[in-house]
Amino acid sequence: MTTRDQRAELLRDAGWNLFRLRSEDVMVDLLTDSGTGAMSAAQWGALMIGDESYAGARSWFRFRDAVAELTGFPLVVPTHQGRAAERILFECLGVRDKVVASNGLFDTTRANVESQGGTGLDIPCPEASKPELEAPFKGNIDVGKLEDLLSEQGPALAAVVMTVTNNTGGGQPVSMANIRAASRLCRRHGVGFYLDACRFAENAYFVQQREPAYMEASVKSIAQEMFSMADGATFSAKKDGLANIGGFLAVSNERLHQSIEQALILTEGFPTYGGLAGRDLDAIAVGLQEVVQESYVENRVSDVRYLGEGLLAAGMPIIRPPGGHAIYVDAGSLLPHIPPRHFPGHSLACALYKEGGIRSCEIGSFMFGAPEDQTGQAKGQDQAERRLELCRLAVPRRVYGRAHLDYVVDVAADVAKGRGQLGGYEIVEAPPRLRHFSASLRPLASRAVDMKLDLDVGLGQLGGPGRCGDAKQGKEAAGVPVGK
Ligand code: F0G
Repeated sequence: MTTRDQRAELLRDAGWNLFRLRSEDVMVDLLTDSGTGAMSAAQWGALMIGDESYAGARSWFRFRDAVAELTGFPLVVPTHQGRAAERILFECLGVRDKVVASNGLFDTTRANVESQGGTGLDIPCPEASKPELEAPFKGNIDVGKLEDLLSEQGPALAAVVMTVTNNTGGGQPVSMANIRAASRLCRRHGVGFYLDACRFAENAYFVQQREPAYMEASVKSIAQEMFSMADGATFSAKKDGLANIGGFLAVSNERLHQSIEQALILTEGFPTYGGLAGRDLDAIAVGLQEVVQESYVENRVSDVRYLGEGLLAAGMPIIRPPGGHAIYVDAGSLLPHIPPRHFPGHSLACALYKEGGIRSCEIGSFMFGAPEDQTGQAKGQDQAERRLELCRLAVPRRVYGRAHLDYVVDVAADVAKGRGQLGGYEIVEAPPRLRHFSASLRPLASRAVDMKLDLDVGLGQLGGPGRCGDAKQGKEAAGVPVGK
C-alpha cells in the first residue's frame, strides 16, 4: 500500500507514464482487461493435463476443436497473443500501399497495418462520436461510408476488420445487422471481411439484450452466427478467452492458411503450438466454453455497468451506455481547459493514480496522435469528427468485487470535484510508434498544482478477492492520508 505522497513520487519516477509503474504500487489496476483476469478452477485443472509435445500434442487438438466448434473456422493457428495474429494476417494478405478499413482498429492492430506500409482507416457510425448519446450499437461501422469506399477504391482495400466490441470507441457493441450488412458488401466487392474478435462474447451478450431478433438466442449461438459471416478472425485469448496469455488466427481459405502457417513457423512456432505452452492451449479451450455461459457474461457486463453508473453519479462524464469491458471517461468534457495536445485523458489517469492508487489508461491524442499532430484531429477528419479524449477504466474479469468498484467511484468523485486544478502534460521523449507504452512526460509547469484533496474514501470496505484481497483493512493501515 502506498500513500498519496509516495504515489506522486512514484509517478514522477515513472516519467508520468502509468505503464512504467510497478504493479505492487497500484491498488486497483484498471489499466487493461487483457490477460489480467482470474482463471477458473476448471482452467487451472486443465493446465495440469497440458501436453507439451512439440508436434501434435493432445492440448492442440483440444484447443483446435474448441475454436472450430465456436467459430466454425476449420483452419486455425494458435498465436502467443492477438497482435501476433494481426501481424501474420496483414503480412499474408499484403497490406502495403493498401487500406484496412474498420469500425475501429485498436492501437496494436493499427500499428501492425502501418508498420507493413498500409493505412488503417476507421469509419465508425456517426453515433460513436457523441459520448452522451444513449444508443444500443455505437460500435457499428458506417455502412454508407463502407459502401462508398468499396465502390470507389475496392481494389485498394486489403481487408475490412470489424472489432467486436469496439475498444477504441468505448467498448461498444456491433449489431448483427451491421455485421451482416458489412459482410455482404465485402463479399459483393471481393474484399476479405475479418473479425477482431477479442471480446466476441460480450458483443454477443449485448446483441441478445438489445437486438430484438436475438432475444431468444443463446450467447453462444449468436457468437457462432457472428463468426459465420466473416472470412476469418484474429483473437486475443487474454480477453474473452479468459486466459492470461494466448490467441489465435482462424480463416476459411486454404491458400491463405498455408501462407499463415509458413509465417507462423518463422516467428511464433510450429502450427500445433504457435508460441504457447500446451497447458496454455488447454486453459484457452476451457475459457472459450466458460465465456459463453449466460450467467458468466451477464455478471461481467453488469459489473461494468455498475461501475459506469457509479462514475456518472460521481460527476464523471462517460461514454454512454457503459461498454462491455470498460468505462471510458470523457476527459475532454471533464477537463475543457486542457487542450488535446496536452492530453486531458492522461491528466485524469495520473490524478486517479495519485489520489487513490487506481491505474487506468488514456485513449486519445496521447495513444493515437502522431508526433506532428498538435490538434487532436486525425488526418482527413473534419472539425466535427474530433478525436475523443478518453480515460479508460478497464475491468479485469473475475477479479474485483463491488467493494473495489465502490472505492474507485469514491476516488473518482474526489478527483471530479478538484478537476479545475488538473493540468496538462507534454511529452519529453517518445518512440515514433505506440508511444503511449514507453514515452516519458512531464506536467506543464503552469498547471503543476499539487492537488490536495480530502480522500475520505472507504478503503476499509475492500478485502474481497483480487488485487486488494490481501490489503490491510482501514484507511490508516492503507497508509492513505485522511483529510490532508
Ligand atoms: N484488438 C483489440 C480490440 C484489442 O483490444 C487488443 C488488445 C488487441 C487487438 C491485441 O491483443 O494484446 O493480445 O496482442 N487490447 C488490450 C487492451 C491490450 O488493453 O485493450 P493482444
